[in-house]
Parts: sequence; C-alpha cells; structure tokens
Amino acid sequence: MRHKKTNEVKAIFNKISWSYDFLNSLLSFGLHKSWKKKLVDLLKPIDGENWADLCCGTGDLSFLLLQKVLPNGTVTGIDSAKEILNVAKKKANLIEKNYISWEMQDIFEIDEYLKIYDGICMSYGLRNLVNVEEGLKKVFNLLSDKGRAGFLDFNHSKQNSIADIFQKIYLRLIVVPISKIFKLSKEYSYIEKSIKNFPEGDILILMAKKVGFNKAEYRTIFFNQMGILILEK
Ligand SMILES: C[S@@+](CC[C@H](N)C(=O)[O-])C[C@H]1O[C@@H](n2cnc3c(N)ncnc32)[C@H](O)[C@@H]1O
Repeated sequence: MRHKKTNEVKAIFNKISWSYDFLNSLLSFGLHKSWKKKLVDLLKPIDGENWADLCCGTGDLSFLLLQKVLPNGTVTGIDSAKEILNVAKKKANLIEKNYISWEMQDIFEIDEYLKIYDGICMSYGLRNLVNVEEGLKKVFNLLSDKGRAGFLDFNHSKQNSIADIFQKIYLRLIVVPISKIFKLSKEYSYIEKSIKNFPEGDILILMAKKVGFNKAEYRTIFFNQMGILILEK
C-alpha cells in the first residue's frame, strides 16, 4: 500500500514535470512565488548555513535559499522523481546557479542520523508524503541540534467553512478544467483528495511536538487557502 502510493506520487510528478512550473504560475495567478518567498523570509537562513529543500520539485525554494546562504553556505535539493529534478537542474544551468547539490532520493531513505542541516524547508511536499508524521520525524532527525524547519502547503480548513468552500470551487472549477486542457486533469484532481487527507494546522502542531520539536507555529495566508508551519528544535 505504502509502496503503491510512493510510486503513484512519483509517476504523477514525473509525468507533469515539464508543465509543472507553467501550470503552477497559471493556477496560482503567479502567487506561489510570493508564498515561497514568505516561507524563506520567515525562516531567516543566513550566510554559511547548510539548508535542504526536501521534495524540491523544480527547485523554487532551493534558488531562494541559495541567495541567502551564499557565499559560505550550501543548499541541497532532494526529490524522488527523476524528471522533475531534471527540470530543476536545467533551470540551475540556465540561471548559472550551479552551486546547488541535486539529489534524487526518497526522503524516507535518507540516513536518519545525519543531523547535518541548519534548516530544512518543504513546499507542497508534506501533503504528498505517505505518512506526514513520519515525514516530520525524518526532518527532526536530519536537523542539527538548533535546527529549524518550515513547510508551505494547502491549508486544510474546517469542513464547510468559507475557506473550504472557496477551495473546493477553485479546485473543481479552475484547477481541474485548466489542467484538462493540458491532459493532466487526473493528476490535478488528486489535489482535493490529498488536502482532505492532510492534517489541519492544529494537528500538524501536535504531530511536530510529538516527534520532538520544541516550538511549532502554524499560520494561514491568502484567505486561509495556504498554511505555513514553522518548527524549531
Ligand atoms: C507538489 S510537488 C512540490 C515541488 C516544489 N517543492 C514546489 O513547491 O513547487 C511535490 C514533490 O514532492 C516529491 N516527493 C513526494 N514524495 C517524496 C518523497 N518521499 N521523497 C522525495 N520527494 C518526494 C514529488 O516528486 C514532487 O516533486
């Protein structure tokens, strides 16, 4: 079952890799970039730190992190889908940001006790993991003793709240029909189900504390449509 979901997610992101950035910008009206920037700003990475962008996809967060940690720090972008990582590498070549290490790996297979990162961030990755709590635990174990982490994803709002209704209308009437034009409606229909299975903000906080984080804060942005989880060891 677990293996099946991992392979399904990998297949989706390999399939959509070349349209991913374009559709992301189109479907978020270009706003996803500012939400990612907000996440990185909240985490305050500084020169000399070592950061990882887990589930990096086409690398947006990796590029933002790099601007903050250079000249002495490092950024590693990790994703399990080969094709989407290839897009990240192509982008890095185009903008001559070849300092990022790109690793094709399932995050659950990274050696747990490396404790090498000062910071870890993830955008739209946590919701796609086979097990959210295990994902938080993995991040905890990969962070150095004073490490911090941040996650951006869709917010799972209370059922039948205005935010929930708006989200469903947006996904059903905008996202799925537009992705249909690109023959990717099946892949994008998956978002609604994945949000439904994704914990609400207060549960994410409880999970983060359970796996060992000392500080956990959750805030919503863009009319409660997106959520940002900030954690400190
Ligand atoms: C929605 S995309 C997000 C990409 C990018 N972070 C962004 O915000 O645009 C989710 C990514 O998570 C990756 N992913 C899902 N499960 C993973 C896992 N267990 N290990 C590594 N990557 C994973 C997928 O391959 C995909 O590229």
